[in-house]
Amino acid sequence: MLTINNLNISYDNIPIVRDVSLTINKGEIIGIVGESGSGKSTLLRAIMGVLGDDGKIDNGSIIFDEKDLLKKENKNIYSKDISMVFQQATLYLDPITIIEKQFLEIMKNNKENKKEKHKNIVNLLNSLHLEDAERILKSYPFELSGGINQRVSLGLAMINKPKLILADEPTSALDVTVQAQVVQTLKELRNNFNTSIIMVSHNMGVIANIADIIGVMYYGHLVEIGPKKEILQNPRHQYTKQLLKSVPNLNGDIPKGISGRIPEFGSVIEGCPFYDRCIVSEHKCKITKPVLTKVDNGHFTSCLHATEENKIYLGEIL
Ligand SMILES: Nc1ncnc2c1ncn2[C@@H]1O[C@H](COP(=O)(O)OP(=O)(O)OP(=O)(O)O)[C@@H](O)[C@H]1O
Ligand SMILES: [Mg+2]
Repeated sequence: MLTINNLNISYDNIPIVRDVSLTINKGEIIGIVGESGSGKSTLLRAIMGVLGDDGKIDNGSIIFDEKDLLKKENKNIYSKDISMVFQQATLYLDPITIIEKQFLEIMKNNKENKKEKHKNIVNLLNSLHLEDAERILKSYPFELSGGINQRVSLGLAMINKPKLILADEPTSALDVTVQAQVVQTLKELRNNFNTSIIMVSHNMGVIANIADIIGVMYYGHLVEIGPKKEILQNPRHQYTKQLLKSVPNLNGDIPKGISGRIPEFGSVIEGCPFYDRCIVSEHKCKITKPVLTKVDNGHFTSCLHATEENKIYLGEIL
């Protein structure tokens, strides 16, 4: 459905996203995690073609249904087949138009009559735990809470049943029970219409619940990707291991987090970008750039330790 090859993105000529490659199949849900500033939103915005004036794709390709989205003539795909929920949902709603009109605008080419459209919108909003849909539809975004606007944005992204939904933190403003409902609605959309979804979230619980595949980003690189179970139970990149240990749990322990911070974008890094913060790094990690390497079925990681461990393991069983 979507194949990204060696994507490089910069803002004002400062490299941000580096050499990201990934594939998403029909009906698959990929969850992207990583600390703040790791380039998750930038990646989604590039797929959607909305990087803004200072953003630029330096090289790479984004192929959707065999068409290269980076070519001007394929821009019309966006409204029909791909939709996006932006991280600050309220900012992306039209402030001077009531919600129902915003829905009707994106449904203007659909063949249902007005009454049917209204019914479909209400049903979708209800499934997103917005029971007072009639009031919401008559409101302007500023009259609604952040959590409601977030779900309205999700509804706008879902209503035309696109082939691919890009969801940037779609549950961040919601309390846990509503989060669960929204995740359920997205899963139903996938189950019923084979929709593919790329979801970015800081909430590992949400990702663990919804994703089939988890991708981990660090300093603009995709450092590990694989089936959900593999990533959660057998992470191979030291960054993923430390990130998972930083997730708060219910036993009251306060996780330590990862010491240090992401390097400054644009700085020269010869080896692994996680070198300074990694608790098992060695000199070779400082001087050798790790590349995304297969460590198991569908599981890839860019960590010298992981790939060497694998060589030893494979050596033993051969
Ligand atoms: N329009 C822009 N112009 C210049 N730099 C930008 C722009 N947008 C993002 N950046 C920079 O690119 C880097 C990656 O940002 P991005 O928003 O993609 O990260 P993120 O992983 O989505 O973070 P968060 O989890 O906080 O949403 C950051 O250093 C950010 O400051
Ligand atoms: Mg972001």
